[in-house]
This record gives sequence, C-alpha cells and structure tokens, in this order.
Amino acid sequence: MSTPVIEISGVKKIYRMGETEVFALRGVDLTVTAGELLAVMGSSGSGKSTLMNILGCLDIPTAGSYVLDGIRVDGMSRNDLADLRNRKLGFVFQGFNLLPRTSAVENVELPLLYDRTARWTNTRQLAAEALERVGLGARLEHQPSELSGGQQQRVAIARALVTQPTLLLADEPTGNLDSRTSIEVMALFQALNEQGITVIIVTHEPDIAQYAHRVIEVRDGRIMKDHAVAAPRSAADDVARLDAEAAELAAGVTKEAA
Ligand SMILES: Nc1ncnc2c1ncn2[C@@H]1O[C@H](COP(=O)(O)OP(=O)(O)O)[C@@H](O)[C@H]1O
Ligand SMILES: [Mg+2]
Repeated sequence: MSTPVIEISGVKKIYRMGETEVFALRGVDLTVTAGELLAVMGSSGSGKSTLMNILGCLDIPTAGSYVLDGIRVDGMSRNDLADLRNRKLGFVFQGFNLLPRTSAVENVELPLLYDRTARWTNTRQLAAEALERVGLGARLEHQPSELSGGQQQRVAIARALVTQPTLLLADEPTGNLDSRTSIEVMALFQALNEQGITVIIVTHEPDIAQYAHRVIEVRDGRIMKDHAVAAPRSAADDVARLDAEAAELAAGVTKEAA
C-alpha cells in the first residue's frame, strides 16, 4: 500500500469581499498516494486554483484538515509553511513566471539560493543538472525572451524540480502553449512521474487530462467525479506520431515538387 502524499478532509475556503462571501471550496476530501499522476478538471471559477493553492500551502483553508507527506499542515506558522513548501513542493504555472533578463540556469538556481536553511551547495551545478533533465542542457545561458514558450515552461519545470520535491503542482501548465508543445510538456510530466514524482496538474482541456492516471472533476467548489484512467495515453507516443505524420507530409510535398 502506497503512503498518502496528500490527505485533506472537509476543506472549505470562503473569500470575504466586503459584505459578500464567495464559497470557493465547499467541503473537499481528497487522498493522493505517492506516484500518482492526477488531473484536476473543471470549468473556470469552479475552485481548481483555490484547491491547488491550499495543497501548495500558498493559502490556508477556512475549515478542514490537511496532512502533507505525513506532516499536519493546519495551524502551521507562515515560516513553517514556507519551509514545508521549500522541502516538499515544486510549482509550475500557466505563465511560466520566470525572471526576465535572467539566464535559464540562474532562474532554476533561485529556489536553492532562497532556501532559508541554506542546505544546498553546488547550486549552479544542481540547476544545470535540472535543466539537462528537462532537455535544456544546451540552453543554460539563454534568457526567457530567447526561448520558445515550450522551452520557457521546461525551464519552469526544472526550477520546480531542482529542490527534489515529493510533489509537483502544475496549474494549467499548458494553458499558454500550442497543442503540439502541450503534448511535449505532458510527455515530460509523464517521464518525471515514472521517475517517482507525484504530479497534480490542473487543466480544463480533456485532451490534456487523458495523459493522467486519475481524473477528478471540480464543480462549484466540490469534487463531483473521481475516476481512474485504465490506460492513459502516452504523450511521448503521441509526439512521435505527430513527427511521423509531419515527415510523411513533407516527403509528399517534396515528391510533388519533383
Ligand atoms: N482571492 C480571491 N478573492 C475572492 N474571490 C476569489 C479569490 N480567488 C478566487 N476567488 C473566487 O473563488 C472561486 C474559485 O476560483 P478559482 O479557484 O480561481 O477557480 P478556477 O481556478 O477553477 O478557475 C471563483 O468564484 C473566484 O472568483
Ligand atoms: Mg484557475
């Protein structure tokens, strides 16, 4: 039996906006075990980001309990939450959130330098290794503006990985990418998951969710569906298929021109 990485129960989140209250989460129970690749689906405003922010210890629930990798999160101080985030979690966002005019390797190195426990040495080398892991070993000195969207997201994934997290949280990581690049990024998440990292990905695209092993659907602040995917698609296979189709097309064009 795998150990739970995440155990939340009865989690509610109410935002107060002056006189009105917004019920973003209305009682969520969720257990995620080590090694899962989970997709969180739901339409805009359903509460996906609120849930991710709570799972990521970036926000505190109004009610309910949360145990992360065996550690009780509720009631922790801000500093303890920050340390827990640093030790256990990696974040990937829709907009990449890289520092401009800063090289890829420096962007990836930042979480190591910001660690309050100063537990890292050889930070530059660790950052370079993380970039190699995402296929960007030859782009260490490139700035974000010198990289494609897919490459920028890979840098962001390397930055999330560099602290060796237990859990990777990605909120709409393919939201700013074209469909082919999205599949490439999903192939990377699948590969990292196979190497043992638990991954939770928020998406509202069914095409993206089909690469997960389990899909939950959030609606109106509640989990409405939770099902295992018997045979998830392989994103690497899909990329290879697209390449083969493109090659065939190119060969056809060359023939016609001859
Ligand atoms: N900081 C906030 N203050 C007030 N309301 C918020 C805040 N963040 C989110 N909400 C509201 O909570 C609900 C859920 O939002 P969110 O979790 O961002 O949904 P999703 O990510 O699924 O689009 C929405 O009605 C949204 O307007
Ligand atoms: Mg959102």
